[in-house]
Amino acid sequence: MPADGFAVRTAGDADRASIVVLFAAVAEERTGIAAEPPLDVEQLAADWRIDGTIVAVTDGEIVGEINVDPSWMGFGEIGMFVAADWRGRGVGSALVAAAIELARARGLHKLALSVFPHNDAAIALYRKFGFVEEGRLVQHVRRAKGELWELIEMGLLL
Ligand SMILES: CC(C)(COP(=O)(O)OP(=O)(O)OC[C@H]1O[C@@H](n2cnc3c(N)ncnc32)[C@H](O)[C@@H]1OP(=O)(O)O)[C@@H](O)C(=O)NCCC(=O)NCCS
Repeated sequence: MPADGFAVRTAGDADRASIVVLFAAVAEERTGIAAEPPLDVEQLAADWRIDGTIVAVTDGEIVGEINVDPSWMGFGEIGMFVAADWRGRGVGSALVAAAIELARARGLHKLALSVFPHNDAAIALYRKFGFVEEGRLVQHVRRAKGELWELIEMGLLL
């Protein structure tokens, strides 16, 4: 384990359940990711795209995840989350760096993502790696309580 207390590695099938437990915990926050409870965790675990998934682990526990989903158009889309008590300690940065490396290794020309405008931590993280805002999707995501949230589209040319 490196000095910062976590390691980053590609995910395997054995990680499905742990990834989804963390995903569900982050969804409970109802702020950073689009998913909200209730979630069918068993179905999510079965459907999770393990190919292109990178996890951050500490003492055998998954504390962060990023997925690079390649499209036939040559770009890859990323989505990510870090356990609440591990935020601000470099896990997100390590995951984004690993995702960029993976995307380059797979010959993708660009990474793209969507982020809520209030998500200062995520926007700062993506900007740090050179992602730039490319546009806004207006009243795009309907939340469980009926609010319509905007999304910022960001991209990084590789
Ligand atoms: C967004 C998220 C992945 C960041 O992960 P993290 O492990 O906290 O990121 P890091 O510790 O590597 O911090 C990365 C940068 O973000 C910035 N940052 C971190 N927390 C911040 C905050 N609360 N406000 C503003 N900027 C912040 C810092 O500039 C930091 O850069 P630095 O290393 O130069 O200081 C994490 O907060 C998270 O999982 N949030 C909930 C789920 C989510 O929002 N996912 C993204 C959906 S688009």
